[in-house]
Amino acid sequence: QKGGYRHFMLKEIFEQPQVITDCLAGRMDRKHNRVTLTELEALPTPSRLHIMACGTSYHAGLWGKYVLESLARIPVNVEIASEFRYKELVEEPGTLYLSISQSGETADTLAGQRMVRQKGLPVLGLCNVVGSSVAREADSVLYTQAGPEISVASTKAMCSQLVMLYLLGLYWGQNRGTLSAREMSQNLLTLETLPQTLTSQLPDMQKRARQLCPEYSRARSFFFLGRGIYYPLALEGALKLKEISYIHAQGYPAGELKHGPIALIEQELPTFALAMQNHLLDKIGSNLMEVRARNGKIIALTNPGVELDIDEKWEIPQLGDPLNSFLALPALQLFAYEMAVYLGKDVDQPRNLAKSVTVE
Ligand code: M6R
Repeated sequence: QKGGYRHFMLKEIFEQPQVITDCLAGRMDRKHNRVTLTELEALPTPSRLHIMACGTSYHAGLWGKYVLESLARIPVNVEIASEFRYKELVEEPGTLYLSISQSGETADTLAGQRMVRQKGLPVLGLCNVVGSSVAREADSVLYTQAGPEISVASTKAMCSQLVMLYLLGLYWGQNRGTLSAREMSQNLLTLETLPQTLTSQLPDMQKRARQLCPEYSRARSFFFLGRGIYYPLALEGALKLKEISYIHAQGYPAGELKHGPIALIEQELPTFALAMQNHLLDKIGSNLMEVRARNGKIIALTNPGVELDIDEKWEIPQLGDPLNSFLALPALQLFAYEMAVYLGKDVDQPRNLAKSVTVE
């Protein structure tokens, strides 16, 4: 069942190249450089998007905000479903509500979606489980086609959600004319080659993650820092580490550090930074200098050629934004996985957690 892997989580991390291939199948028209999402044909292109989700799916939604706003120029609001469901709903014409849920059974996401539908407003579901409640009750549903996810810690499901959000950005971008033919073609080409790149990188990523364990598994707490699209991934890296290794971790947008959390930095509190080669590299570089000046240890996930004053450099190939996310995400997952294994934790069944949270 585990296909030769020690845990379902590891198997599911290594399934991500196939997950990307399956998500893209039938949805990319390379001949005309278009994205085809037949599920959306009955829905008008929204002028605003409101995302509701929990946990890892919420982090995917936050990532989607950056990508959709940039590709399709559609303003996106993302809310934790347990907060959203108890708020006064402010109706804005042209808004489409998007429920993101791997299981499609998360009580809060479903309740948020029901509240929206009671008001006669449109809901699109982004789900993995076919025929789940979120899928059945939405006006339209996009399936992520990631296959069953057994491990409580969500990995390949998030990867599939990111691919679908990216495709949504391209789809609405092409409908709204915000992307040139050249941009469409470049985006589709890089997406197409992604599974192959990821397959070749995963074994080395696992080795690199393992190397970091002896020293860093002693930490009682971690910061995960990112900026732009890497901020939601920093949140996800922290969640994964907490969930399966039981090491406290907090994700932050790096620029927010000096507004309070920097007070915690010392030698015993390491930072895991996402510092890709992009327009924000100088910014995160100077945030990391502030950490360094307070004796904080730093692991940085970065691209070749980037110069940073840090303790551990972890290089991944430069695919550009947002494609680097699809390498950064498994690196974070493998880091949490190897730390949990090193500490002897029950990786697939972490304490106090259920795979799908069907009660409040
Ligand atoms: O099935 P859903 O995507 O609605 O689940 C949401 C969260 O419960 C889930 O992502 C949770 O945070 C994971 N265990 C994280 O690994």
